[in-house]
Amino acid sequence: MENRRSNNESLQVDVNYMTAEYLGSREGISEAELQAQAETLARAVRAMKDKRPQMAWRELPHNQNDVVDQILDYTRRVKDRFENFVVLGIGGSALGPLAVQQALNHLYYNELPKAKRNGFPRIYIVDNVDPERFAALLDVINPAETLFNVITKSGSTSETMAQFMIVTELLRRVLGDSYSEHIVATTDAAKGNLIGIAQEEKYPLFYVPDGVGGRFSELSAVGLLPAAAAGIDIRELLRGAAFMDRWIEETDQVTENPAYVRAVLHYCAYLKGKNISVMMPYADSLKYFADWYAQLWAESLGKRLNQDGEEVFVGQTPVKALGVTDQHSQVQLYTEGPYDKVVNFLAVGSFRNSVEIPRLYAKVPGVSFLGGHTLNQLMEVERVATEYALVKANRLNNTIVLPEVNPFTIGQLIYLLEVETAFAGELLKIDAFDQPGVEEGKNATYALLGRVGFEDVKEKLKALPAKNQRYILKRPV
Ligand code: PA5
Repeated sequence: MENRRSNNESLQVDVNYMTAEYLGSREGISEAELQAQAETLARAVRAMKDKRPQMAWRELPHNQNDVVDQILDYTRRVKDRFENFVVLGIGGSALGPLAVQQALNHLYYNELPKAKRNGFPRIYIVDNVDPERFAALLDVINPAETLFNVITKSGSTSETMAQFMIVTELLRRVLGDSYSEHIVATTDAAKGNLIGIAQEEKYPLFYVPDGVGGRFSELSAVGLLPAAAAGIDIRELLRGAAFMDRWIEETDQVTENPAYVRAVLHYCAYLKGKNISVMMPYADSLKYFADWYAQLWAESLGKRLNQDGEEVFVGQTPVKALGVTDQHSQVQLYTEGPYDKVVNFLAVGSFRNSVEIPRLYAKVPGVSFLGGHTLNQLMEVERVATEYALVKANRLNNTIVLPEVNPFTIGQLIYLLEVETAFAGELLKIDAFDQPGVEEGKNATYALLGRVGFEDVKEKLKALPAKNQRYILKRPV
């Protein structure tokens, strides 16, 4: 094993290779470019302060002692009773739980015998309505041994409610009256359809607080319950987030603020045509953080209207990548393709395991040089080598280093990226917390499935011109 670092270390936010000092003034961001944004920056810093009372998600690290107690009490009670814990949800109600499970549990957690899971149930997160995957899940779990956590902030998302209805019917059929003991709901206390159903059927309930939107909800019961159900230390997760909040609040000096500096450099890069933000963790444990980030960045910043109601059509496209895997897939494009990207690396200071490469094939120098090193070193030097290749090609990149992947650092990472996104929203002068473009699709789904009240949307859909068969290619077999 490598020397384990303390749980208390802070993330390291390294933005060297975003600057003109290293990349030259055509690609890199210069002091003068930052100075030119002084007014925008001052406005954004002010807005973050003024709007903090409305950003209830910012208080989650600080005000949830009771919620944490309730969650821990509940998970203690159900731990021995259930073999499986299944999250039913989508978007912000699934991606955070997925990212945190992958980061903080054994990478083959579900395959471990129960004793090695410290007696906690297996975790499955159903973030889609793919019929084959849903049927496959039902093939591998026994409903009688399963607790289903239905999570939906709005309490009305079609995908989640469909999953929930399938499960409810299945449980009723298999278990009769005791079915409701197999469901726990996480939703808004007042809005939506789930709350009424849950109250009527007497499901245990956890709440998504007001002012906490889906993609900013991982540190609420949305993420804390599934994490605790798998034995993750949720107090440490929140302690990490609280630490990051204190760091962020320490200074309004943008270049000294970990979230603001990342946001402003992305903003300046965007103004220079960098329309893509690649999230590339160098750790399988952080793989789903790229998915979580993609939703956070895309849904928060991709907007048609600014805060004054003018059409602006802004937003960087997030791309998910994984080191080193994508060195053999996407990095060619990153180093030689268009100058339209910022690459964000997530690096790990110390992995939780060390694997040595044996000294073999002494007569084959092209292979034997690997012997005696560790996979840990290989992973790290490949990240440094990719960083070098990007810098050499004048490509913007930056690195967040997690000293170790643990609940304290993951709490920091979640909070850092959330505040960075909110600050980027203020720089772009858009509302980072709505998602009108998603609502359109949701309403069309309701209309197509015949939901009452959406007849006008159905009419509009029908009014679309028919597709031209000339543009649909098919060949008889
Ligand atoms: O960020 C958001 O608000 C959305 O992506 C939601 O998380 C997603 O649509 C699921 O919504 P809900 O939790 O209401 O089911």
